[in-house]
Amino acid sequence: MKVQTHSSLHNLLDNRMDNRTFKFYCEHAKNVPNSYCQLQKINGREVMIGGKKLINFNAINYLGLESHPEMIESAQQAIAKWGTLAGSARAAAELDLFQTLEKRLADWLGVDDVMVFTTVTLANHGIIPLLMRTGSLLLTDQEVHNSVQRSAIEAKGAGATLRNFKHDDFAQLERLLVEQRRLHDHCMIALDGVYSMQGTYLNLPAYEAIAKQYDCSLYIDDAHGFGVIGPQGRGIVAHHGSDYDNKIYVASLEKGLASLGGFAVIPAGSRDYFKYNSYTYTFAGQLPPPYLASSLTALDILEREGDLRVQRLNGLIHRVKQEVTEMGFEIVGEDNPFPLVMVKIGGMSDIPRVSQYFFDQGIHILAVGFPVVPLSHGAMVRISLSAIHTDQQVDQLMDAFRGLSAHMKQGQAA
Ligand SMILES: Cc1ncc(COP(=O)(O)O)c(C=O)c1O
Repeated sequence: MKVQTHSSLHNLLDNRMDNRTFKFYCEHAKNVPNSYCQLQKINGREVMIGGKKLINFNAINYLGLESHPEMIESAQQAIAKWGTLAGSARAAAELDLFQTLEKRLADWLGVDDVMVFTTVTLANHGIIPLLMRTGSLLLTDQEVHNSVQRSAIEAKGAGATLRNFKHDDFAQLERLLVEQRRLHDHCMIALDGVYSMQGTYLNLPAYEAIAKQYDCSLYIDDAHGFGVIGPQGRGIVAHHGSDYDNKIYVASLEKGLASLGGFAVIPAGSRDYFKYNSYTYTFAGQLPPPYLASSLTALDILEREGDLRVQRLNGLIHRVKQEVTEMGFEIVGEDNPFPLVMVKIGGMSDIPRVSQYFFDQGIHILAVGFPVVPLSHGAMVRISLSAIHTDQQVDQLMDAFRGLSAHMKQGQAA
């Protein structure tokens, strides 16, 4: 682990790596076969890892559009037409496909304007610190995605006051607002649309009420919700039958749509402000042609068969939740249909053995613990379902869960 030669950079790295938590995770990751592993092949929901075929319950392209013939064809045609890359930052020139996709997304959601970014992470970094600066109060739910938290730290560096509140702790949020709101010119509350490690949907009506009462805006990162929840997969805001007023809504083209990129719904008339000021929009590498084209195709498919795919997915979610619960496992999260099913499986020290067990059973699945999930949840297995899992593949998963309790008991007895 120690770096041998000692430049000042090596000294710095030695210092950073001489850290108990880092060493623990490093050691730990090596003993967890379903983590940081290399995929040698993908065929639908079958993957090859270390020469072994496994069923993939670890992919978050929930509708399974990545292998849809129309998606592949549109990506191939885009490369044939444009090449692999436009080759410039958007400040210089962008493919006109951006305009087509942004207009299409805006129409799809029924909003005034949408800006596409290269990833959701870049959207968060490009927007949050731009809006939240000196005189701003930024309140973040402590379970928001890491990229929102990091963007919030950037906002703090730009002069904003940053406070975290416990997940959905409305009493704490109100205390912060009573204390801090009057000291600041504006306030934004940053939230996830779906908390993917808890399987819970955002309680949007409650946050809208608070935002109204204390004159705040909402920032919603719905990376996981867009494409799979709400009518025709239109996401968390549509799920609650609400609108985009007083909100920045950010979502992913990667998960439900099986493409790449992120986008933000922005208020009418604000495009130029974001365009000329958001460094991740202006100067980051732009999305390559196949992803712009396949995002458009994914929207076509969603329009045509999105409901059918979501129905199939919801059927699998229902089945898995019911059977796993009947086996005596505890599922974390509300009873909303969401394709990530979080199952408690023991303590942190069980993670390597559980991961190895599933691997041996031919299942590629994520076993996680703190800090990815709250410490109180112990270790959890995250089942990631998709509309293209076959019934037989889910049978095999359920068989593995059936054998898990006995396997854990054997381990304890040994
Ligand atoms: C809520 C949320 N935001 C942002 C991201 C990062 O998205 P991207 O890979 O597009 O940067 C993720 C990734 O899973 C996420 O779950």
